Amino acid sequence: MKPIFADNAAIEHATKLLQQGRLVAFPTETVYGLGADASNPEAIRRVFKVKNRPANHPLIVHISGVEQLKDWAQKIPESAKILASAFWPGPLTIVLNKKSDVPLEVTGGQNTIALRMPDHPVALALLNKFEGGIAAPSANIYCRISPTQASHVEDELGDSVDMILDGGACKIGLESTIIDLTGPVPKLLRPGVISKAEIEDVLGIEITRIDATIENKSQNNRVSGMNRLHYAPTTPTALCEHDKLAIVLNNLRIQNKRVGLLSYQFNPPENRFIHMLCMPEQAESYAQELYACLRELDNKKLDIILIEKTPESENWLAINNRIEKATARFKEA
Ligand code: TXA
Ligand code: MG
Repeated sequence: MKPIFADNAAIEHATKLLQQGRLVAFPTETVYGLGADASNPEAIRRVFKVKNRPANHPLIVHISGVEQLKDWAQKIPESAKILASAFWPGPLTIVLNKKSDVPLEVTGGQNTIALRMPDHPVALALLNKFEGGIAAPSANIYCRISPTQASHVEDELGDSVDMILDGGACKIGLESTIIDLTGPVPKLLRPGVISKAEIEDVLGIEITRIDATIENKSQNNRVSGMNRLHYAPTTPTALCEHDKLAIVLNNLRIQNKRVGLLSYQFNPPENRFIHMLCMPEQAESYAQELYACLRELDNKKLDIILIEKTPESENWLAINNRIEKATARFKEA
């Protein structure tokens, strides 16, 4: 399916498709989503099928404003309204208790629901025209890298999606922060560009951060972003410390391996066997380019992709979390 420039006519057509229970991929500020009418179980089942996603992995429902929270959630705590007012539209997903009439297909059989108002003019125009909730996981095959450009969606999903709205490259490039507000203390389920500290600042209380590996066992892998093998290229991908890169690259050259390198500050010697992409030094720009660059190297069908280790500081947390997942199958190089 060729992406279509998201002008008014395209958005109008996309709305009709959603109303008919069909699937529309659309841009958000984080990544592209694979959208379906959240109140139509049949349409939701198609999303799971197209993505090859296990049926118990819940979807995020996208809504057009704080006022829509009550259409999907019940027993909404004050903290939800505070966070939504502070960060919406924006890359924060809030998990609440679902209303009883919300189809269990959307929530993977759980009684909670994830909600978010995206900060992208195309997504917002679509939501306003559609006048309902749009369930949308990232528009990629399960466990693969999320798409940050319309052409990535075309590569991932081909003709199994009914329309791809092209709204350019996503400006954030990493999936939203997810916070669970259903318990006594808010829990950060997935790190994103909205940090734990920012959320704590707005709420005026400390929140907990779930250790993905512990949660995996206790929650039966319900939060698929917490799956260790997520966001992964198909090419073996490994993390490498700056100081070890020269030796590792030399060893790989001796073995005649074709190597992709996402370099942060490393300048390798001129070498034909290394396909190097120089990443930006700023965390925001690095995040914006990460998935597109990994995808570009993955498409070259190399023997290995190396990612040079990035800084440990707080503003790199979401990036390091995704790199950890992309490299989870392989030990450090
Ligand atoms: O930035 C984003 O969040 C993007 C864009 C398209 O909005 N969407 C996205 O969706 O990343 P997806 O399906 O790839 O990831 C959604 C995550 C999954 O890890 C899912 O398990 C979690 O949200 N999730 C959804 N509903 C949940 C719930 N009720 N409780 C806990 N986690 C939930
Ligand atoms: Mg995803």
